[in-house]
Amino acid sequence: MNIREARADELSLVHEIEVSCFKQPYGLSLLKLYHTLSPDLFLVAEAEGRIVGYVIGLCKKWGEGHVISLAVHPDYRRRGIGRALMEALLTRFKERGMQAARLEVRVSNTPAIRLYEKLGFRIKGVLRGYYLDGEDAYLMVKEL
Ligand SMILES: CC(C)(COP(=O)(O)OP(=O)(O)OC[C@H]1O[C@@H](n2cnc3c(N)ncnc32)[C@H](O)[C@@H]1OP(=O)(O)O)[C@@H](O)C(=O)NCCC(=O)NCCS
Repeated sequence: MNIREARADELSLVHEIEVSCFKQPYGLSLLKLYHTLSPDLFLVAEAEGRIVGYVIGLCKKWGEGHVISLAVHPDYRRRGIGRALMEALLTRFKERGMQAARLEVRVSNTPAIRLYEKLGFRIKGVLRGYYLDGEDAYLMVKEL
């Protein structure tokens, strides 16, 4: 498994994973925007010659890295790919001088919450009705 920056011509493959993983997936145009904003923070995992996961980050001016999205194709889960993608993004946040990383996650998303806790993220608050279907989000933060 190899983790590297996504190329612009791969974003529709990333979008297919996004659609298969989320109830309210980001549109392809939004993925393209994130890729344009920070191509060095838009990473993909490649295994067996195909893209099987991705993570997207953004650096905020106030020194916080924001994890925008993370997903691994259902056939490739529980192999350490999600963790490896997050670790690669956190390294890049640190290299860019970020002092903390933050993310939002559905309160029902136990797999992701377990992963983030393993990486040292802690729940800092609840964002009521954060998602369009009304579900709350946990705000999770890790000092870098
Ligand atoms: C969350 C997600 C990215 C995890 O990817 P993954 O490659 O399967 O995760 P990893 O194999 O790196 O797992 C690392 C650790 O996370 C935890 N974890 C992962 N999946 C889990 C699950 N289904 N149940 C409980 N813990 C889980 C475990 O502690 C795991 O370590 P272990 O396998 O040694 O027990 C993946 O489940 C996914 O794409 N989900 C749908 C999209 C999503 O919810 N993204 C997050 C949005 S905030």
